[in-house]
Amino acid sequence: MIFLMDLQMMLLDVLYSILRATVQLVFKPRSKPVDGELVLITGAGGALGRLFALEFIKKGAEVVLWDVNASGNEQTAKLVREEGGTAHPYTVDVTNREEVYRAADLVRKDLGRDVTILVNNAGVVAGERMLDCPDEMLERTMKVNCHALFWTVKAFLPQMKTQNHGHIVTVASVLGLFSTACVEDYCASKFAAVGFHESLAHELAAEEIEGIKTTLVCPYIVDTGMFEGCRIRDEAELFLSPLDPLYCVEEAMNAILIDQPMVCIPRITYLAYICRALLPWESNVITYRFTGSDKCMYPFVDAMKKRTTNGLSQLT
Ligand SMILES: NC(=O)c1ccc[n+]([C@@H]2O[C@H](COP(=O)([O-])OP(=O)(O)OC[C@H]3O[C@@H](n4cnc5c(N)ncnc54)[C@H](O)[C@@H]3O)[C@@H](O)[C@H]2O)c1
Repeated sequence: MIFLMDLQMMLLDVLYSILRATVQLVFKPRSKPVDGELVLITGAGGALGRLFALEFIKKGAEVVLWDVNASGNEQTAKLVREEGGTAHPYTVDVTNREEVYRAADLVRKDLGRDVTILVNNAGVVAGERMLDCPDEMLERTMKVNCHALFWTVKAFLPQMKTQNHGHIVTVASVLGLFSTACVEDYCASKFAAVGFHESLAHELAAEEIEGIKTTLVCPYIVDTGMFEGCRIRDEAELFLSPLDPLYCVEEAMNAILIDQPMVCIPRITYLAYICRALLPWESNVITYRFTGSDKCMYPFVDAMKKRTTNGLSQLT
């Protein structure tokens, strides 16, 4: 009897949540204020990290910028200050857990307050065919795109829990939801990032911690140079072309500010995600061939190979 009542309640709750999500597609909930929040962004010296920093300071937040690339990070800090914001740049290699814990303590000591929004955005891709790719490059992708999430969350979640206030954002990729050829390292790391993020979100829900929100950001290819040359069939690109970086970050911000648990950018990529889950493997292979998604990374990998043979090592 109790089971049947629970089942009934559960079905009603599920229906209510579907209804609410549908209504929210049309009537967007009000954005939450982030003025006064301390936002830490990893990979802040890169394209999307910099735009995240600029968007957060527009909303009145203060930003802590972490990047292994000191000059890119300083440049972001300069841009933030020019816009009237407050930036605290730190050179941190997020793959080094001791360095992450040390830097987190330093941030706390320097600023005298806790990070309340963590944007895990640092990311890399090897850009080589699996069998050509040096082992260290494969490992590096896993360390930056996945392992670093463990260290940063371990460094900042405890204080968020103490205050029952915070937000953890994981910038993954649509390649963490479905894959393509020649980006094995990247897909493995981004699928792992998605799994980590979802498990963490479940943990917070199971513990009924309502003050800490999570948002998983899964963009399609963005015009930042990370996947330079990646192309699908011309006709398919009419529906799915590389994203403008600012559009991508604005869409991600919209999701973060309404506490949306997940966002795929653009929305059409949800279709590929659903097809992967529902259709037989062969039908996905057929649609990949039709749209040119099967070999879309070939020109990117070729371009990377040329760069590497020209002496521009990626392990910088
Ligand atoms: N550009 C795309 O097409 C695309 C698509 C989907 C998802 N993403 C994801 O968005 C995020 C940002 O991508 P982007 O296009 O701005 O790339 P980007 O290369 O411009 O920026 C990445 C930043 O991460 C930093 N970084 C790398 N290793 C690090 C380390 N060990 N410690 C600290 N910082 C480190 C780099 O120095 C760089 O500044 C990444 O996670 C990426 O995987 C990008």
